[in-house]
Amino acid sequence: MMDDLFPDDVPDWREALEPGAMVLRGFALPHVPLLLAGVNRVAAAAPFRHMHTPGGFRMSVALTGCGHAGWVSDRHGYRYQAHDPLSGQPWPPMPAGFAALAQQAAAEAGFAGFLPDACLINRYEPGARMTLHQDKNERDFSQPVVSISLGLPAVFQFGGNERSDKTQRVPLAHGDVVVWGGPARLRYHGVLPLKPGLHPLLGECRINMTFRKVY
Ligand code: SIN
Ligand code: FE2
Repeated sequence: MMDDLFPDDVPDWREALEPGAMVLRGFALPHVPLLLAGVNRVAAAAPFRHMHTPGGFRMSVALTGCGHAGWVSDRHGYRYQAHDPLSGQPWPPMPAGFAALAQQAAAEAGFAGFLPDACLINRYEPGARMTLHQDKNERDFSQPVVSISLGLPAVFQFGGNERSDKTQRVPLAHGDVVVWGGPARLRYHGVLPLKPGLHPLLGECRINMTFRKVY
């Protein structure tokens, strides 16, 4: 039982946000070198870029991705596609170890057997933010989203199924992982503007990696 594994006098590293959504505090910390080496390798082949929304606004977050699908936004809309529009080449493959780590995190949060085929990598500099949105361009909502935070801390907003629903503010630090799926899969979520700071490994930036099963 949970109670035996996590006695009352030990702080629980798993924090339930609501049914289907959980923060795994520090879960990715042992894997930071692997993750950063992989992010650097991906960014060398598919550089971080600021996409534009269909309405023509430049997104403050820079992004790239790896795996079978990458998320793109331009004046035609939002979608996943198999090729990087900058190079016309397929997105770089997911570095070894990425999918297994995402699968372990999903299992800790109650979603066994998660097999992600895409990893989006977001880079936030001070002031960058992600407005409230739903992740709904994927085909199969029975699969969760696994989100890893690295670098500068941020405030994650986690809301309801309507944009206007009240949101909780969840502080996220280097190494924290958020998993949402099941009844929470279509919750609106976002990130408040990043506060300036200097992270010992990443400098003036936050990297967020989200794993999904797109196809
Ligand atoms: C996202 O919703 O795609 C990013 C979330 C985050 O940066 O924590
Ligand atoms: Fe999202």
